[in-house]
Amino acid sequence: DTPLLTDRFGRIGRDLRVSLTDKCNLRCQYCMPAEGIDPLPSDRLLTDDEIVRLISISLTHLGVEEVRFTGGEPLLRKGLESIVTAASQMTNHLGHKPELSLTTNALGLSKRAAKLKAAGLDRVNISIDSIEPEVYARLTRRDRLKDAVEGARVAQEVGLTPVKINAVLMPGVNDDQAVPLLKFCLDNGYQLRFIEYMPLGPRGSWKRSDMITAEDILGMLETEFELTPLGDTVRGTSPAELWEASSPHHPTGSVGIIASVTRPFCGTCDRTRLTADGKIRNCLFGDSEIDLMGMMRGGATDEEIANLWRGAMWVKKAGHGIDDEGFLQPDRPMSAIGG
Ligand code: GTP
Ligand code: 5AD
Ligand code: SF4
Repeated sequence: DTPLLTDRFGRIGRDLRVSLTDKCNLRCQYCMPAEGIDPLPSDRLLTDDEIVRLISISLTHLGVEEVRFTGGEPLLRKGLESIVTAASQMTNHLGHKPELSLTTNALGLSKRAAKLKAAGLDRVNISIDSIEPEVYARLTRRDRLKDAVEGARVAQEVGLTPVKINAVLMPGVNDDQAVPLLKFCLDNGYQLRFIEYMPLGPRGSWKRSDMITAEDILGMLETEFELTPLGDTVRGTSPAELWEASSPHHPTGSVGIIASVTRPFCGTCDRTRLTADGKIRNCLFGDSEIDLMGMMRGGATDEEIANLWRGAMWVKKAGHGIDDEGFLQPDRPMSAIGG
């Protein structure tokens, strides 16, 4: 038994989030400026083999149990299928195949879903912030709703389930979409989660005062649905608080809210993050990164890499500190950290 990814507050990193690229084919207002962000040069990105090695180290030496692929947009990485295949042949410290999931905008997913399932991917989370094409296009700055909806449909069909749908509501952009999105998701058997907008997008674009809170969202949903809290046992370490939503006109199902800002869940955080350029980030809002790529390219052994990784997690802060005086937004945008 090797030491785990424990921090000073007793939390253990068991959920590895791997960013496969910082590029994206959408320009969501809550994530990126309209002009996009200069992508990292390719020699500063981890290779497929390096990613596979780091996943393997996390599973065999550090007690990681699940792996989430994110981005940017992870479908833009050509090696995605082969990385998934390699990870699905590994075992975690419990002796199981790690649970493998993907957080994606689903553009182009319809053509790759069956292959990804066959490669060993278990499930997908898909961003769909509006079910009206014009609103989706305004929010994402691309007219691609049909593609995303088709991606979700095929993911469900091939068994990449449960399909979870993520939606961030932005004031004046898609804040009328809560009820329509829930109807769409209940009708299709998807698990919808609303996410409070976090200060991770274009600099200066986040103001707490105009954020749509969990409480606001519940109020909107209650105009058409009866909501019953599902309690923390169902939630586990997932960031989403869950309710059962029922109404006379739609199948009953769950709806979640990820209230990172107004009801932070940092106390039970079990995440460790690997950026596309090979740095460990101990928190979305962390102020330090540890460079594993440099070490690896300098010839470090698995044990040396594992030790550095443990050190990176040990110094994780108690929480994101969004409410603290002098809070500074991370210097990288969400697309480069890996949501
Ligand atoms: P599952 O419910 O296990 O599928 O995972 P998830 O909700 O963590 O995954 P997803 O990638 O879909 O992320 C949904 C939202 O939660 C995004 O806005 C993420 O940035 C946010 N999120 C994920 N992990 C964390 C975290 O550790 N801290 C905070 N504050 N937000 C997170
Ligand atoms: N605040 C909250 N969620 C965000 N996401 C991207 N940027 C932000 C932000 N600033 C979400 C996307 C996607 C997930 C990976 O992260 O909606 O579903
Ligand atoms: Fe974990 Fe940081 Fe997210 Fe809090 S903000 S849940 S500590 S990653």
